[in-house]
Amino acid sequence: MIRPIDLPYRPDSLEPVISEQSMLLHFALYERYIQRVNTAAPGLHSAQEAVVAAKDAHDLAMLHNAQQILNHEFAFLSMKPAFSNAPPSGSVGSLIAEQWGDPAEFWSDWLRASTGMFGSGYVWLVMYLDEIPFGQLRIVALPNSDGPTGGVLPLMAMDVWEHAWYIDHPLMRDRYAAGWLDMLADWERVNARLHAGVS
Ligand SMILES: [Fe+2]
Repeated sequence: MIRPIDLPYRPDSLEPVISEQSMLLHFALYERYIQRVNTAAPGLHSAQEAVVAAKDAHDLAMLHNAQQILNHEFAFLSMKPAFSNAPPSGSVGSLIAEQWGDPAEFWSDWLRASTGMFGSGYVWLVMYLDEIPFGQLRIVALPNSDGPTGGVLPLMAMDVWEHAWYIDHPLMRDRYAAGWLDMLADWERVNARLHAGVS
């Protein structure tokens, strides 16, 4: 039986970027993905196991549900209670400064990836662990339930499915993405993921 994670923040603590109502609905949707996998395969203990089982069985529906569990957990744990953010600090801050120069350039690329995505998906910050370009950060927009695979370390994810933002920012995905990066991005956790992934 797969169980939902406990969020390290209250559902009303992401306001004004994400309202309590929107966060509660979003969490209920995440629980529904878990429920579907638990119903289809009651013996599993994790979403990672469910991804493997779904691939083995060529069960596309279960694969999407299992990936959505993983993606939501990663995206939920990329946020912290709303507070006007300082620019990214620590190792990630240094890498962003090195690659983008001005953090405003990173902000622009993040918004471009968010608003440029056609349909549903997630915007990810990843680090390349392949030999070339080893250690480079990239912002990637991946559709639907896709997650980064093969040779990359995921560091941060923002859900840009309409259910994540439409209630609070109708027709304004750009406002949601800007608020998310400005107030919700959990740079401390991003740095912890980086250190855990490259050590
Ligand atoms: Fe979502």
